[in-house]
Amino acid sequence: MQVIETVDGFRKALAAERAAGRTVGLVPTMGWMHEGHASLMRRAAAERDVAAATLFVNPLQFAAGEDLSTYPRDLDHDRALAEACAMAYLFTPTVDEMYGTQPVLTAVTVAGVGEGLEGASRPTHLSGVATVVAKLFNIAGPCRAYFGEKDWQQLQVVRRLVADLSFPVEVAGCPTVREADGLAMSSRNAYLAPDERRAAPVLHRALLAGRRAAAAGGDPVAAMTEAVAAEPLADLDYAAERDGRLLVAVRIGTTRLIDNLSATP
Ligand code: PAJ
Repeated sequence: MQVIETVDGFRKALAAERAAGRTVGLVPTMGWMHEGHASLMRRAAAERDVAAATLFVNPLQFAAGEDLSTYPRDLDHDRALAEACAMAYLFTPTVDEMYGTQPVLTAVTVAGVGEGLEGASRPTHLSGVATVVAKLFNIAGPCRAYFGEKDWQQLQVVRRLVADLSFPVEVAGCPTVREADGLAMSSRNAYLAPDERRAAPVLHRALLAGRRAAAAGGDPVAAMTEAVAAEPLADLDYAAERDGRLLVAVRIGTTRLIDNLSATP
């Protein structure tokens, strides 16, 4: 696996692969990689001739006061995992390499699917995601790009971005990888103290309760709200149903976690 730090180097490496007739898979990440990331990387490597992961903690998608400065980082671990998942390339640009030294004046905003839910709680977040993903697609060129269902609204934003702006990218959505107790794997799980970690499966429990309520003809949002209220360490940010998907966001201490599930099994 080749580790590339420059935009130009990454662009040229993938262009050369395509020129040699090989298909390209792309797995954008912010690192602190876990089995969720690994599942995307393994699938990209299996489905494409060559696959590349990107590791960039994108400042644009963090608001002031969010966890940009404390976001967990371990390049050695991530490099080893990406290599074990058969990545041909790992792109690890610095912030200056990605954005230059001038302020970023251009933003990509996806209306509708990007509004409400995360868009309501974190007003600049999904625009920061759409902007960096558009940039990564422009650098990587034609490819199949892998995104997790764990971040459901993000996946819908990326799909719409690709359709609306005609990126030569095929978006592949990948199922959520969970711990044995149902907690969706997330880099932010690293923030949880032991008692908070024990409380965190409440998100998955709430989604299952919502699904049961829906199946019984009841109100899934009320069921999810009630399930979160039953966990003393958890504060509900939102519980919602959108397009047949149940979604929750919960604060446990200072850590904000999200999860989602299809409303029907
Ligand atoms: P990050 O949180 O590092 O996630 C990278 C990719 O892994 C995303 O597509 C995310 O949905 C997926 N993922 C995370 N946890 C997962 C899990 N438990 N199961 C399956 N997939 C999972 O999402 C981002 O980074 C950033 O917003 C990014 C798209 C890279 C733009 O900066």
